[in-house]
Amino acid sequence: MDTERLVSLIRPEVKSLAGYVAGKAPSGSYKRRIKLASNENLVINNSDVQRHIKRILSSPSLEYYPDSHQTRLREAVISFLEREGFSISPEQIVFGDGSGESLQMVMMAFVNPGDTVVIPEQSFSLYRTRAILAGARVVEVRRKNLWVDLDALKETAIQTRAKLVVFSNPDNPTSTTHGGDDLERFLRGIPPDVLVLLDEAYIHFANWRESGLHFVTRYPNLIIMHTLSKAFGLAALRVGFTVSHPILAEQMEKIRLPFNLGLLAQEGAWYRLTHPNRIWESVEIICRERKALIDFLEKEGRHPLPAGGNFVFCDFGPEYKRIVEYLENHGITVRSLGSFGYDPRFVRITVGGPRDMTYFKKIFLLAVREAGLP
Ligand SMILES: Cc1ncc(COP(=O)(O)O)c(C=O)c1O
Repeated sequence: MDTERLVSLIRPEVKSLAGYVAGKAPSGSYKRRIKLASNENLVINNSDVQRHIKRILSSPSLEYYPDSHQTRLREAVISFLEREGFSISPEQIVFGDGSGESLQMVMMAFVNPGDTVVIPEQSFSLYRTRAILAGARVVEVRRKNLWVDLDALKETAIQTRAKLVVFSNPDNPTSTTHGGDDLERFLRGIPPDVLVLLDEAYIHFANWRESGLHFVTRYPNLIIMHTLSKAFGLAALRVGFTVSHPILAEQMEKIRLPFNLGLLAQEGAWYRLTHPNRIWESVEIICRERKALIDFLEKEGRHPLPAGGNFVFCDFGPEYKRIVEYLENHGITVRSLGSFGYDPRFVRITVGGPRDMTYFKKIFLLAVREAGLP
């Protein structure tokens, strides 16, 4: 078969997509390598999870499928949330192989070809690509001074008779964060037949007590999405979940691949959730470093936005390329936001621990001074 005929077999929606651009890991043989490009938790000490996984690996269990119902993990999520003041029942939770898969399941279960999905412009790219794959018409809503504009999202959802609205709070990549009151005002104005998927990947670094989890009972059209890749520090294990009305969760369960979470993912996540102190210790350190980084960037005239996530959005200026390259040449990667649709002078920096941040600031200053930049 010639290549043209092969290409004609590809779905047009798939052909139209650009591939996912992941944060760059430092390459080369630098003394220090620091990846500040993917918003992972660089502070948490997961040695206890690693020990638990080793124990699991030493028992003869690899021949068997993992628990399809994820019972132990489900109970651990419920107890964790209970301790934090959120009352959730088992039939409200659906696990995904990372929250990326959860997002995909929401699209697959609820979005028909031709339905409208409303998202903020210049957001986490999976919202757009997964909606397009579902055959949806994607309507992107303008931001307001870089913030997600909840009023405009609501108005657009009403005007377009949307099926689904998706956004993250804290927002990726700006890190700007709406409080619980803003969220509730938004939810109150959304018609009950419009679904809302609220992605709270970074909420643990922000106003966690005001999480949208509080609103799931009052607004049955609300689906909350969480991940263990960020504050919980388990990006490598791939665990995410949604919390929703049981009727919606039941439908998502039907399309979930039966063994989507492997044994090690389930066990590692279970251990972290049942031993949560290290999560909150790391969150505290990151929040302290985040404030220090914002102060530093402000002093350096790089206009950081207020940040609720474990990352800071700022403006490296017209000389961004030289700064980013200088950082990379010293083993540090950050995320220049061209692939998100911003001018690439806008940069997202993951907040690490004190040593990483001291090194980042030192190299940043060298980049600016040695290159004779303003
Ligand atoms: C806003 C947001 N949502 C979801 C995810 C996906 O996380 P994961 O698939 O690792 O759970 C990310 C990852 O960077 C993100 O930034």
